[in-house]
Amino acid sequence: MTADNVLVAYGTKNGSTAGIADIIGETLRTEGLSADVVAARQVRDVSGYDAVIVGGALYMGRWHADARRFARRHAADLKNRPVWLFSSGPLDDSADTGEIPPVGHVTRTVASLGARGHVTFGGRLDENARGFIARAMLRNGRGGDFRNPERIAAWTRQIAAELRGRVATGG
Ligand SMILES: Cc1cc2nc3c(=O)[nH]c(=O)nc-3n(C[C@H](O)[C@H](O)[C@H](O)COP(=O)(O)O)c2cc1C
Repeated sequence: MTADNVLVAYGTKNGSTAGIADIIGETLRTEGLSADVVAARQVRDVSGYDAVIVGGALYMGRWHADARRFARRHAADLKNRPVWLFSSGPLDDSADTGEIPPVGHVTRTVASLGARGHVTFGGRLDENARGFIARAMLRNGRGGDFRNPERIAAWTRQIAAELRGRVATGG
């Protein structure tokens, strides 16, 4: 089995998780793999992919619904291939200064899918964010872009190395 065709699926409300997924896709391509970056709700079938990376924005301690539904709907296929998960959320530098464990239901998803890993990346909240609570958070000075492209790329390079290792060993 080759492992060169990777799906990066994301659930987002305000677009910043899509930006993280784009960095992951670009990094995989730089590493010589092929990658499709697709909104999770638009994915009909994962069977054409050798590996899948699924990310969700965190809202009120839960993954965005599109990421939750994706993991549920495609569970049977995801269990059969290498899968990594990521969450995006913290609006401070806490994701860069320590490992933030997945929220409860994502922890269960890691286990049920046999995911190879999970990481939490910093998020973004800006003046275009939709929703009453988002606007209140902005008024309280909680806005900012805490995504870290270098950390996202470094995590992705580890995945690329693991996938290349599978190809080399045929495992
Ligand atoms: C109403 C609201 C609730 C949020 N809840 C959480 C949360 O529970 N945990 C967290 O780490 N970040 C939380 N955040 C921050 C978002 O996860 C962050 O803004 C993220 O980057 C949004 O992703 P998106 O732009 O892809 O929708 C929240 C943001 C808003 C506006």
